[in-house]
Amino acid sequence: MSKYKRHLITSALPYANGPIHIGHLAGVYIPSDIYARYLRLRGEEVVSVCGSDEHGVPITLKARTEGTTPQAVVDKYHEMIKRAFEEFGMSFDIYSRTSSKTHAETASAFFRTLYDKGEFIEQTTEQLYDAEAAVFLADRYITGTCPRCGDERAYGDQCEACGSTLAATELINPRSTITGSAPVMRETKHWYLPLDRYEAFLREWILKGHKEWKANVYGQCKSWLDGGLQPRGVSRDLDWGIPVPVEGAEGKVLYVWFDAPIGYISATKELTSEWEKWWKDEQTRMVHFIGKDNIVFHCIVFPAMLRAHGDYILPENVPANEFLNLEGDKISTSRNWAVWLHEYLEDFPGKQDVLRYVLAANAPETKDNDFTWRDFQARNNNELVAVLGNFVNRALVLTEKYFDGVVPEAGSLDDYDRETLSEMPELRRSLERNIETFHFREALKDAMAFARLGNKYLADTEAWKVVKTDPARVQTILNIALQITANTAVAIEPFMPFTAEKIRRMLAIGHIGWERLGEAGLVAAGHRIGTPELLFDKIEDAQVERQLEKLAATKAANSQTAVEVAPQAEEITFEDFGRMDIRVSTVLEAERVPKTKKLLKLTIDTGIDRRVIVSGIAEDFTPEQLVGRQVLVLVNLAPRELKGIVSQGMILMGEDTATGRLALLSPDGAVINGTKVG
Ligand code: 2FM
Ligand code: ZN
Repeated sequence: MSKYKRHLITSALPYANGPIHIGHLAGVYIPSDIYARYLRLRGEEVVSVCGSDEHGVPITLKARTEGTTPQAVVDKYHEMIKRAFEEFGMSFDIYSRTSSKTHAETASAFFRTLYDKGEFIEQTTEQLYDAEAAVFLADRYITGTCPRCGDERAYGDQCEACGSTLAATELINPRSTITGSAPVMRETKHWYLPLDRYEAFLREWILKGHKEWKANVYGQCKSWLDGGLQPRGVSRDLDWGIPVPVEGAEGKVLYVWFDAPIGYISATKELTSEWEKWWKDEQTRMVHFIGKDNIVFHCIVFPAMLRAHGDYILPENVPANEFLNLEGDKISTSRNWAVWLHEYLEDFPGKQDVLRYVLAANAPETKDNDFTWRDFQARNNNELVAVLGNFVNRALVLTEKYFDGVVPEAGSLDDYDRETLSEMPELRRSLERNIETFHFREALKDAMAFARLGNKYLADTEAWKVVKTDPARVQTILNIALQITANTAVAIEPFMPFTAEKIRRMLAIGHIGWERLGEAGLVAAGHRIGTPELLFDKIEDAQVERQLEKLAATKAANSQTAVEVAPQAEEITFEDFGRMDIRVSTVLEAERVPKTKKLLKLTIDTGIDRRVIVSGIAEDFTPEQLVGRQVLVLVNLAPRELKGIVSQGMILMGEDTATGRLALLSPDGAVINGTKVG
């Protein structure tokens, strides 16, 4: 790191079209926060920027379905996301948003520079257009039949049923989601960044120059580069976004993936007037924290943009993570399959660090990983409570008990004491190496090893026994235990800042810099410590079960909505409906129609008369279940003959689309027969 003077850390800007869940935290924000906190503790000059990504088609779609404006959507989720990040201790120096004025100016100027330098290609192509709404249709605004699997709900860019990536023009029977009309082809002009021009540079810079990048990141870059790069559109026909700042671009905005990464620059500008030193000085080390779906944009497209512009530095590393699953299934916002941060805090108030710990310990660093509530419980109970909490508590409570809370003298150390203390600098080295190479899971183990060391030391030295025979020895033991406690607070701080703070409060000490980690003199003899409290408490089975029940309910609701319901029938007029005469009636008699499986012959009191109706419900109801029941009957249906019996009307019922089961419709309380329904 020595050739660098300062560190610029960026964290993927989350889309402001939904709240934040554990997948976001584990994939991007916890790693970036650990890294930023660590570097700050080391006394490095750090700026960590993030903000909401507020453009793009999904936000306009969300606004449409919620019957509101894109601005209202992003305002709502920006606030929600910002608060969740604060609550979980994400230590961004700024959390901005891409709807800000500074960002619009920065992104426009960036585009303009590339445009003036002739870095774009202008191209007119035919794209799908909704003539009724007078708009070009982004891929997500088009649905139709998948040419691969025949599913009728495929989108213009993807079929969710079979997972194929599609081009909108491939869809069979395409429809605009805005008006339902069939789109037509129409010419439109757009600007493209010719990535192929940067291929040689990118190959050199990444494939030769950054062999140290994580295997998943390097591998994805290599396969993109080997596949050959194509020009990428940087503008869209849309009314939400940053207008393309050139003549003749009415109704066109910058493509969201063009403006979003520039958001890192805008955020830095908003943070400090010295923003240029963070972006234009080779002595700044820039690291992008992202999820794997963002690799191509951060390793190929954005670097090509920065290079084309010419004034900016490139990232030094892009430690992208894989995905976190939840209880074996892919996290999905639309299926509500997620643990939302705001809901977590309602169910586990004050337990931010527990989630930070579990997600860091289980981060999907090299492959997709699974979050399970059982694992959450086990890590809390067996690691946080039993190791970290237990050690710190014992050290403090014993000091309270034997020395009235005053730190005893270290006295003379024996070999075991020295050996124990000498392990701390070694742990520190391993911890540093792991954080600096983005191995946060291993780094967390190193940090926890301080507490394990302390736990073992207290168990081996048995102060509670020795106190009876050798009180001076107990002074040494507790002095050492308290030194390890203070060291533990420093070591865990990047991972669990709230807990580190709590330990410092209990020790009644101020903040300790990283440079002292591993030392044996962090708390002075004679210093009075504060009141011991428990750092963590056990998570009970019932709490886990409640979470699992919540997920089971989500699953049930999803399987219900997955069933296809019949499409709406052709429109009818009010008068059409009025021609149907529906009456509340009572079933007086019911019997099976011989030699049929399905038919029952029912005698009905319609209030108007008594009549016979033949109904196909014998598989779902026995005659006994029906006699005496009130039902709804369409009484003016033309009579028809079934198995030699004239049926005079129809009993109304519903058929469950998922199970095929019939449901009778009845008034919610008895009313007189003949009551009209409408
Ligand atoms: O994938 C996403 O959630 C994007 N909103 C990330 C953008 S990162 C950056 F480029 F702004
Ligand atoms: Zn398909």
